[in-house]
Amino acid sequence: MSKPKILVARAIFPEVISRLEQHFEVEANQSDAIWSKAELAEKLKDKDGAFTTGGDRIDAEVLAACPRLKICANMAVGYNNFDIDAMTAAGVLATNAPDVLTETTADFGFALLMATARRVTESEHFLRAGKWGKWSYDMFAGSDIHGSTLGILGMGRIGQGIAKRGAHGFGMKVIYHNRSRLDVTLEAECKASYVSKEDLLRTADHVVLVLPYSPASHHTIGAAELAMMKPTATLVNIARGGIVDDAALAQALRDKTIAAAGLDVFEGEPKVDPDLLTVPNVVMTPHIASATVPTRLAMANLAADNLISFFKDKKPLTPLNPAVLGG
Ligand code: GLV
Repeated sequence: MSKPKILVARAIFPEVISRLEQHFEVEANQSDAIWSKAELAEKLKDKDGAFTTGGDRIDAEVLAACPRLKICANMAVGYNNFDIDAMTAAGVLATNAPDVLTETTADFGFALLMATARRVTESEHFLRAGKWGKWSYDMFAGSDIHGSTLGILGMGRIGQGIAKRGAHGFGMKVIYHNRSRLDVTLEAECKASYVSKEDLLRTADHVVLVLPYSPASHHTIGAAELAMMKPTATLVNIARGGIVDDAALAQALRDKTIAAAGLDVFEGEPKVDPDLLTVPNVVMTPHIASATVPTRLAMANLAADNLISFFKDKKPLTPLNPAVLGG
């Protein structure tokens, strides 16, 4: 029997390609070319499955061109690159890569929070530019992490990981807002109290965004929300571009409406709002929150496992629209 055909849409670990080759006829993109949507559809039109990353858009237009496609396995926990309704309507299974990246991503959220509050990159740029001539009492004075109030918007697994780090490691008071409230056991584990979004924005010293992107969460933080925050507050976004109105944020940073921001994700990335590039009080990283070698390998293997299990016995590990599996 011939093997199912799959496309691996971006370059990934060679050992994961080798694993996939044991089960599939694989077309890989190890040169890491960036394809347009039309090119992706062209490559996918004779494939039974796809290994995708967060930048590969699968929507009704792509699906219409790919009648054989049965599964898209995303190497990301976020899946806003998928139009789930269109995939379900086309009978195409979607899977993501949750859990394996939780602690690594929570570590990074904390790293970005620390770097932002303590002005790590801004002061490094100053030093590298040869501007450090003398000590001064307020040079790069930032804000404290320990003992401060941490506000988490979006309290899924990664949000909970950040809450635990803050509460148990740094003695922070943790408040959170989420679509649904955590049960009491989880709240106690995270030492976190549920508050309204407005109370969170008004009282937190540090606001961390970890909510999924959807049209409903577009510009969750815009000019009005930034204006509610303390002028000494920091904002960290490790969720998705588009959750923050980047133009409004750049303006707020320039006007010192808030003290500083740490951003791992951007609206329209990899492009970055040019205004953000010129304000000093922002720490920016190129969407690397889950980027450690073991975690990226675990994410790639989970996406591969989803493809392998699906074609073997229709039992993918982390399905997003299990209705298409029937039964
Ligand atoms: C990264 O942003 C992911 O969704 O895994």
